Amino acid sequence: MLKSRITGTGSYVPEKIIDNSYLGKKIDTSDEWITERTGIRERRVVKTGQANSDLCFEASKKALLAAGLKPKDIDMIVVATMSGDMPMPSTAAILQKKLGAKNASAFDVNAACSGFIYGLSVADKFIKTGASQKLLLVGAEVNSRFLDWEDRATCVLFGDGAGAVVLEPTKGKRGILSTHLHSDGNLWDFICLPGGGSKNPPSEKTIKKGMHFIKMKGNETFKVAVRTLEKLVVSTLRENNVDPSELAMLIPHQANLRIISATARRLNLPMSRVAVNLDKYGNTSSASIPIALDEVVRDGRIKRGDYVLLEAFGSGLTWGSALIKW
Ligand code: ACO
Repeated sequence: MLKSRITGTGSYVPEKIIDNSYLGKKIDTSDEWITERTGIRERRVVKTGQANSDLCFEASKKALLAAGLKPKDIDMIVVATMSGDMPMPSTAAILQKKLGAKNASAFDVNAACSGFIYGLSVADKFIKTGASQKLLLVGAEVNSRFLDWEDRATCVLFGDGAGAVVLEPTKGKRGILSTHLHSDGNLWDFICLPGGGSKNPPSEKTIKKGMHFIKMKGNETFKVAVRTLEKLVVSTLRENNVDPSELAMLIPHQANLRIISATARRLNLPMSRVAVNLDKYGNTSSASIPIALDEVVRDGRIKRGDYVLLEAFGSGLTWGSALIKW
């Protein structure tokens, strides 16, 4: 029975930093409010001309190097994103060209902040069935282009970045043990970007109404996220007969430190075994988990054979998890 294993990780964040005090000077917010309510201290934003595929490219080069592979070795590219270069073609196709990965098929997956988990689940299936041997999965977002920088309820939360992993088949005990995907479309309007698609095509009216910006019912989303994620992490471990005490590292989506702490508390997990980087990058949506994963791999916080749990929650509403034996 084949399993898929992550054989290389990489990440990239743009150089430009916007900290909370800068936002406090521009709009009615403060470093104190943002830090206390979210845990975010600063975020990265792209420079003019920098697009999603540019971030993907930088993260992918590092993941390929870590896996010891060349772009032409890759047979499939999946990009998880809600902020691609353009509605079509897929950002994965543009990334394919940039990398020169001429032997790959390429497509995008959109599950907003749960995008990386959805992408991982899709990738896992392609590898397990033998349909792909060397798959590049990237989570990347340029959220800064879709924010109303005058709306304090959203602009303080998000950031830009990309994380990439290479997946290959393995017959051993290590690898992805299970993935779990969920969605509740009844709550689609909790987090959305209503303009610019076929429902509300771009027009003077949609732009005047700010429909091309991310809208979020923050507090309502917060409550569902805490409840849902607590259940999800417990059931993921239970289905794999893994006790929370055996978990080496929880790598959660980075939306809010209060959500992350509540999930860790439910598992009785000390924060030293939880990957947190939202203080530096804010919520980078589908990039947050692969960036955090790359950090813990590179600084040696996870070792061969460790149990690692990934979980995310986002627009859709969607949520999902993955348990890995590293
Ligand atoms: N600065 C100062 N005050 C603010 C700010 C701000 N940036 N934003 C909101 N406030 C005010 C509100 O106006 C409100 O004031 P009022 O009491 O006078 O009405 C007060 O602070 C409390 O507002 P809430 O929205 O209730 O604050 P809450 O504690 O819920 O925090 C937050 C808001 C951070 C958005 C939180 O609800 C959250 O993290 N939600 C979940 C986000 C999430 O997980 N999203 C999923 C992923 S995103 C994706 O998929 C794209």
